[in-house]
Amino acid sequence: MIQNQWYAILPSSKVKAGSITAVKRLNMELALFRSQDGVLGCVVDQCTHRGAALSAGKVSGDCLRCPFHALEFDKSGKCTFIPANGKASPQDNRRYNVRAYTVKEEDGIIFLWYGDEEKQTGKLPFFHGELDDFVYRETKDHWNTHYSRAIENQLDVVHVPIVHYNTIGRGNKTLINGPKVLFEDDALITSANNEVDRGQLPKKPEDCVIKTTYLKFRYPNLWMNHISDKIRVVIYFAPVDDESTILYIRFYNKITRLAFVNRIIASVGTLANLVIERQDKRVVITQKPKASALKSGEKLLMGDAPIIEYRKRREQLKTQ
Ligand code: FES
Ligand SMILES: [Fe+2]
Repeated sequence: MIQNQWYAILPSSKVKAGSITAVKRLNMELALFRSQDGVLGCVVDQCTHRGAALSAGKVSGDCLRCPFHALEFDKSGKCTFIPANGKASPQDNRRYNVRAYTVKEEDGIIFLWYGDEEKQTGKLPFFHGELDDFVYRETKDHWNTHYSRAIENQLDVVHVPIVHYNTIGRGNKTLINGPKVLFEDDALITSANNEVDRGQLPKKPEDCVIKTTYLKFRYPNLWMNHISDKIRVVIYFAPVDDESTILYIRFYNKITRLAFVNRIIASVGTLANLVIERQDKRVVITQKPKASALKSGEKLLMGDAPIIEYRKRREQLKTQ
């Protein structure tokens, strides 16, 4: 994982008011809970008293109550009450505090700050202003691979005519020009520029352009396919552990002026996304090792430029 980043981890709708959701993310067992008035909290899912899962407890006001002996914790992880000691006892419970993580929400996604609290940035890594007036439908799938592999697959323009030969890669465009890769506002941008191989040499990246259909990636785990002005696909790759990832896939559109029609289109688009994503999954989960690395010993092609740039920047972020 890259430290000091906001990771998109879960749809907001998965944590309802007054309830608790247990998830494994970033190699940690977490209990996400929401008070009746909507405030979200996230703590490690293990009580400091005798180890029970806090996610099996209850929400009590703004706090989470352990199911075993009813110790209570607020969203900062502070132990606010120990019933066995009685209300009359001084409630200095610091040694029972549980590890908490800062979570924020935007566009229906829960983001978790992974790193030093004092390094926290105010801005979440979403595609701000780029999805206004769109409607979307979201689906998910679980892949047995590290999230870096799942992300690289979405930046891989070389596999498209091979893996997706009968869907989005129809036309046998196996010759890979460039592609051009650039960084804009710290997001990686690239676009496929593939052609049928008629015996010509592939163009160098510097002779290619970013087309109107392009890919945009924001670290650490958000990707967008800008298909057209009216259609986008967004994926957030929630890391579960070093060998598994949940992909949350959204199909966005604003094709008509009627939101309900656009929602129907989004539902159909979501089904198409699942077909395409399963074609990828079949191959990507076989890659070894499970996580990618800048110095991996893989023998990359010119067409792998987006993957190389993804790895370089990831390495920089990991070491800075
Ligand atoms: S194990 Fe949680 S209160 Fe005892
Ligand atoms: Fe693919």
